[in-house]
Amino acid sequence: MIFRQLFEPDTSTYSYLLGCERTRRACLIDPVASEVEGYVSRLKELDLTLMYTLETHVHADHVTGAAWLRDRLGSKSVVHRDAGAACADLLVTDGVVLQVGELVFEVRHTPGHTNGCVSYVMADRVFTGDALLIDGCGRTDFQQGDAGQLYDSITSKLFTLPADTLVYPGHDYRGNTVSTITQERAKNSRLSGKSRAEFIELMQRLELPYPKHIDQALPANRACGQIPVVPQG
Ligand SMILES: [Fe+2]
Repeated sequence: MIFRQLFEPDTSTYSYLLGCERTRRACLIDPVASEVEGYVSRLKELDLTLMYTLETHVHADHVTGAAWLRDRLGSKSVVHRDAGAACADLLVTDGVVLQVGELVFEVRHTPGHTNGCVSYVMADRVFTGDALLIDGCGRTDFQQGDAGQLYDSITSKLFTLPADTLVYPGHDYRGNTVSTITQERAKNSRLSGKSRAEFIELMQRLELPYPKHIDQALPANRACGQIPVVPQG
């Protein structure tokens, strides 16, 4: 398997490139519009054909590169059917399996940060978007966020994965790159040892600032990133 964890520093976003060694087919999880030129040259360098862009959700902080990549490379964009982005090529639901060459991705619906959040399970790893972060989780005060629902998603759909499953989040603001299910179950300061009611109370007390780019990013992402945002070359 070809695997690259890519970081966009302005919004501390992680995107992931995964490719099949045998068929040279690839997908990108949560690509960022400003990074599209970099993805195109990296795919070329690695001799990979981009089949899909997989969104973990409709992002409030950055514009997706899905539409740009679809135009440039013919990839298909994938998003959960409740995410509010009907422009996507594939609207998926819980349990859907996507194949990229020999790589198999299972969609798990993990709502709570938004109602259309999914995680993608692939072999020994899970891409959790903003549902489960390393020692944290996504906020639940925008985009149909619901703290109780997020608690249920994390505890029933993610913490039940095999203990050594690698956790690759959608963001990290402290330089962490990867965690495991065991580590998050034991040490996640928002979730570890907390009841559902305690988690809801904690999330209600966060008083987070209004997200910086939400007014631009949400409408753009509901259109799969099609609003003219010039990718930096
Ligand atoms: Fe988000």
